[in-house]
Amino acid sequence: MSGCAFCLDAWADETANTTKQEREVIMISQNIQEAFNKQINAELYSSYLYLSMAACFESLNLPGFANWMKVQAREENEHAMKLFEHIVQRGGEVELESIDKPKVKWESAVEAIEDALNHEKKVTGMINDLVDLAAKENDHAAGVLLQWFVSEQVEEEANADDLLQKLKMVGTSGAPLLMLDQQVGKRE
Ligand code: FEO
Repeated sequence: MSGCAFCLDAWADETANTTKQEREVIMISQNIQEAFNKQINAELYSSYLYLSMAACFESLNLPGFANWMKVQAREENEHAMKLFEHIVQRGGEVELESIDKPKVKWESAVEAIEDALNHEKKVTGMINDLVDLAAKENDHAAGVLLQWFVSEQVEEEANADDLLQKLKMVGTSGAPLLMLDQQVGKRE
């Protein structure tokens, strides 16, 4: 921001005097704020879970699958930030909770991807509950944001399922598994 010292002082005073009361009409409701804060935690937990799977795949000598999971973990962080920014833009308060420790060991690649798919199904249920809440609260802005998440969940489940089907086809056999690992390692 540019301007004389007087203007800057006036701007600072004006900003300090902007109370929550004045912003009431655009503020997010308490119920949506709480639900979004919970979902931020769920998305960050998802990121943590996929990072844990990435670590497990590294130990199984499957760097391609590890890469796939790292990309997934990054996307989950982006999901959390979409909700974070929405709360901030609507004058709400972001409150972060501690993140649960994820599972750290999977016996096989199939078991890990099955867990990933089941986790995504659970998240889809959470998003659907948020859509219902936004409708109940007549919150159109939250509803629009959540429509993005509804579409994203269709993609998330399809991606995990696709990977699971391919993995079941190749089984644990050396060469085909290594080829699949190379293929999924290209995910960006
Ligand atoms: Fe953000 Fe994979 O759910």
